[in-house]
Amino acid sequence: MNVDVTQDFALIPHKGFGFIRGVHDPDDWDQICDLEIRDSDVFVITYPKSGTIWMQQILLLIEAGGDVTSISQVEKNGDLVPWIEVKGSREAFIKAPSPRLSVSHLLSEFLPAALSRKKGKVIYVARNPKDVLVSYFHFHKLANMLETPKDFDDFFEKFLTDRVFGGSWFKHVKTWYSHREDMNMLFITYEEMIQDLSSVVKRICSFLGKDLTEEQLTNVVKHSTFKNMKKIPQASYEQVSVDLLNHSKGMFMRKGTIGDWKNHFTVAQSERFDQIFHREMQDFPLSFIWDIRDLK
Ligand code: A3P
Repeated sequence: MNVDVTQDFALIPHKGFGFIRGVHDPDDWDQICDLEIRDSDVFVITYPKSGTIWMQQILLLIEAGGDVTSISQVEKNGDLVPWIEVKGSREAFIKAPSPRLSVSHLLSEFLPAALSRKKGKVIYVARNPKDVLVSYFHFHKLANMLETPKDFDDFFEKFLTDRVFGGSWFKHVKTWYSHREDMNMLFITYEEMIQDLSSVVKRICSFLGKDLTEEQLTNVVKHSTFKNMKKIPQASYEQVSVDLLNHSKGMFMRKGTIGDWKNHFTVAQSERFDQIFHREMQDFPLSFIWDIRDLK
């Protein structure tokens, strides 16, 4: 990542989205959409804190047929499955050999327009937004490119008024979901991955046209569980420079569960969130699991 750590990392509004100064280059913002797409290109799209690095690990393992040793040569998985919007990624993408694997937190209008002509593939991962909010609150404490929150209540307000990188969770999920017919898109949830990682990995393989043996599938799942990813430095982002992540303030791989919001939200905050969720999502047939005890 060519992040410029001398910058102040302020959010710069552009066409309804806030980019991060020093992390994102204004020269890229309106040019990513013109990138030519190969059929083998795969984009993982997430609102931040919805399982991006988990999918990076899964995709790399699928490509490697489950062989974890062959993907351990880098500092972090983001070197192999980069964020397309981060400085330097766009140029690298043009020259990269196939299959090009990328991740992104951008809204659909910034991504290559060719995706809407069913070129390439999109995997969208959504996570229940109460857990996203909590995970993002903790991440803001360790990520130097994000403003350190005053406290949880302050961050709660910022999230609900779209004053965070990624903008409105509702807008992100709804606009991407509305493209599921015009793009080659697999729409999955973080909670499904927690519930049955093996069947999600099989769905991803079938979506990507990858024919793995049972043993290879078992290895993909094994090396992408929370417990095992935590032990793999490039998968857990433990080796990322302290200029970007202050590891003394927390971990990327924090809890990896469903329902931690219950340890943070007050009853009043939860009720207010539910009202907003109901209002925003009433026309969208998307349901989420909010508590680990609700898994079947
Ligand atoms: P928590 O902070 O709730 O633990 P992203 O990669 O989009 O930033 O998302 C980070 C979140 O995904 C963190 O959530 C992290 O712990 C969780 N995560 C990463 N790998 C995971 C895994 N193998 N299993 C479960 N959760 C995982």
